[in-house]
Amino acid sequence: MSNPIHLDSLNCRDIVDAAAWDASLASILSAKHTLESGSGPGSDFLGWVNLPERSRNDIHAIQEQAARIRSESDVLILIGIGGSYLGARAVIEALTPPFHEGFEVLYAGHHINGAYLQALLASLEDKRVSINVISKSGTTTEPALAFRVFKQWMEQRYGRKEASRRIVATTDASRGALRLVAEQERYARFVIPDDVGGRFSVFSPVGLLPISAAGIDIAALLDGAAYMHGLARSDTPDENPALHYAVLRDALYRKGKTIEILASFNPAMQYIAEWWKQLFGESEGKNGRGVFPASVSNTTDLHSLGQYIQDGERRLFETFLLHSFDSDGVVVPSVEDDTDGLNYLAGTTFAEVNRNAWLGTSIAHAEGGVPNASIILERMNARTIGALLYMFQYTVACNGYALGVNPFDQPGVEAYKSNMFALLGKPGYEALSAELRRKLATVNKSSK
Ligand code: PA5
Repeated sequence: MSNPIHLDSLNCRDIVDAAAWDASLASILSAKHTLESGSGPGSDFLGWVNLPERSRNDIHAIQEQAARIRSESDVLILIGIGGSYLGARAVIEALTPPFHEGFEVLYAGHHINGAYLQALLASLEDKRVSINVISKSGTTTEPALAFRVFKQWMEQRYGRKEASRRIVATTDASRGALRLVAEQERYARFVIPDDVGGRFSVFSPVGLLPISAAGIDIAALLDGAAYMHGLARSDTPDENPALHYAVLRDALYRKGKTIEILASFNPAMQYIAEWWKQLFGESEGKNGRGVFPASVSNTTDLHSLGQYIQDGERRLFETFLLHSFDSDGVVVPSVEDDTDGLNYLAGTTFAEVNRNAWLGTSIAHAEGGVPNASIILERMNARTIGALLYMFQYTVACNGYALGVNPFDQPGVEAYKSNMFALLGKPGYEALSAELRRKLATVNKSSK
């Protein structure tokens, strides 16, 4: 098996000189050893490291459930948020052709928008529906609210017994409200391992069941991830793209490059970028530290954020996420009158035009003060995507430890939740509720 991922960092050479590289390499290798020895903070959550290998044991049960869902339904509704949603969506959208017909995975519980939910339910009128509700804690407000609505809708449509057959819960083995409901209603259940956090759970049933239901080869996905795990053992950046990427990020951050933009040239990558933002943002952004992860989808965003990237504040670095620019099937036609002046491209593939857009962008941005690297996938398939997602997980774990933070917790997401619960009158939040109401009254007065 050959390495399906190539990392090119030539456009970082001016800023990451040999001394900067060596300092960051030493720091990342030390972080890597902390990770491998399980001696850093959050070491209870290192189950993701071997997950691609461990999950092979569950593959048959997952594939059977997925096949049943596909044969009995037109639509699978995935209800979940954050790590219980983004990994599956990232893989499914990357590997499913746009405008395809047939079985679909749709999403709910990833925000609190009633109009979206209403429209989604209306769109299911003539469809056979199954549900996969995913929540490790089993208590997250957004998916719990959506599931309450969907459970009632399914029971009204199918009757309680058939609804229960059509709902699969993926949750903790022993805790949480979702586990209790699943037990009571006799839903089929999959377990999120205790030692795997949400954003590191794509290779557990959290990601694998919906991905398999979407018709994607999860054995190949796990193979790619396991292959990257093998490469990640090396302490040599040239042999280990996860290590190479971590060293580069560390060096750029030390040079004051505090914002990273993941830039793709294929709209199918959009949710990979969303997943990446969650993984890097939640893992690094704490104690006043961490690179801020942003993303663009090119060439679309070259006509919007492209201006800022070329010319705005110089705290940016860019990582292009690409796959080989083999022909994508469309060739520029030749026309007789050439009124639009495009005959110079006649016979050229769209892929080739796109490739030149990337090359032009990488040079322009580097010259504009935005160092950039390119992660190039050999091709877009389940194996390379598995390798890529594993690589990102390994990179961020090393970068987090090098920054001196716990890459596996997310204490910062609790602040909005407590305030929201207090404002909504959740029992137990009375004191906070009174305090927030006092603050809101002061704001209201001063704005009059
Ligand atoms: O990375 C994380 O842990 C979070 O993004 C969670 O996945 C997200 O908050 C959803 O949590 P849960 O699966 O408990 O509903």
